[in-house]
Amino acid sequence: MGDIRQHGQPGDDGVRPDGEQGIGARIAAARAGLDPLHVPVMLDRIVELLAPVLSRPGAVLVDGTLGLGGHSEALLKACPETRLVGVDRDTTALERSARRLAPYADRTHFVHAVYSDIPRALDEAGATEADAVLLDLGVSSPQLDETDRGFAYAHDAPLDMRMDRTQSLTAADVVNTYPFAELTRVLRSYGEERFASRVARAIERQRAQAPIESTRALAELVREAIPAATRRTGGHPAKRTFQGLRIEVNAELSILERALPAAVACLGMGGRIAVLSYHSLEDRRTKRALAALSTDTTPADLPVPLPDRQPELRLLTRGAELPTDEENERNPRAQSARLRAAERVRPPRQ
Ligand SMILES: C[S@@+](CC[C@H](N)C(=O)[O-])C[C@H]1O[C@@H](n2cnc3c(N)ncnc32)[C@H](O)[C@@H]1O
Repeated sequence: MGDIRQHGQPGDDGVRPDGEQGIGARIAAARAGLDPLHVPVMLDRIVELLAPVLSRPGAVLVDGTLGLGGHSEALLKACPETRLVGVDRDTTALERSARRLAPYADRTHFVHAVYSDIPRALDEAGATEADAVLLDLGVSSPQLDETDRGFAYAHDAPLDMRMDRTQSLTAADVVNTYPFAELTRVLRSYGEERFASRVARAIERQRAQAPIESTRALAELVREAIPAATRRTGGHPAKRTFQGLRIEVNAELSILERALPAAVACLGMGGRIAVLSYHSLEDRRTKRALAALSTDTTPADLPVPLPDRQPELRLLTRGAELPTDEENERNPRAQSARLRAAERVRPPRQ
């Protein structure tokens, strides 16, 4: 799996220039014959969780976040009878993984869509239900490394941040047109920036002079807006602002809220879903969605459990599983990952 470059959120360490990778990790990875930047997160565990339900002929795997196709490649290799429905909102990611997965061309179908459209993707692929669904949330390396895409404060670029470049809203639109209160909400709720209103005020002052058009101009403005005493902690001062803008531009959390029940609804009996999150906003939503469907909702005052209120899902992970210390050492970008998985044990509740 040497050619996958896997990232968490650019607001985490995904934006760090390569030179900032720990030397220990690089040496360990080199010894193991791996590039630390090219390893899909928690790969062995994902295969362990999903492969058992992908062994029957014609089994359907939906990878809702195909990216560079690293997880999918491992599952296609491990499960020779499996068909892949690979979904990504980024057409460049689809083209690259189609090339990478060319050896499996007779078992793959690619769909340009957001992952809340998994039911449509399945339909397009001529399948009625999924045996496994994988969501590896976050940003892929091309999105971070193609400097014109504007995700990373480490590279100067136009303020874009669209995962799907066919959509119209960009980060420049958010920064230059959102009213102060909306901008503050985005930075506070999605960036978890405690100085959200100071940053929003600084943006408002600057854009009254001239539009803010580049990542560097924004990163510098944020650095100056944050109190000097706090600049030394918590990484780059613009990290949270960039995370907030990216989540807003790509409507990441609202799509995830819709996607989780839609993806679960597509699972056939015994089908499994695995979700890798990279920050608490995503993990909290995943935890809530899976918990809601794995709980008996019979009213507490009834003496017997109601058959139609029984859980649809059984959790396969205890809480959120984390990468091992060894994986974190080998691949620092795995560090913020949280994995949750579940299996359908009953038909969907009406
Ligand atoms: C972390 S990468 C996935 C990496 C992949 N597991 C691999 O092994 O190469 C996340 C991918 O999900 C895509 N993505 C993010 N949000 C999406 C959404 N709402 N719908 C569809 N794709 C999305 C991104 O474009 C990106 O290519």
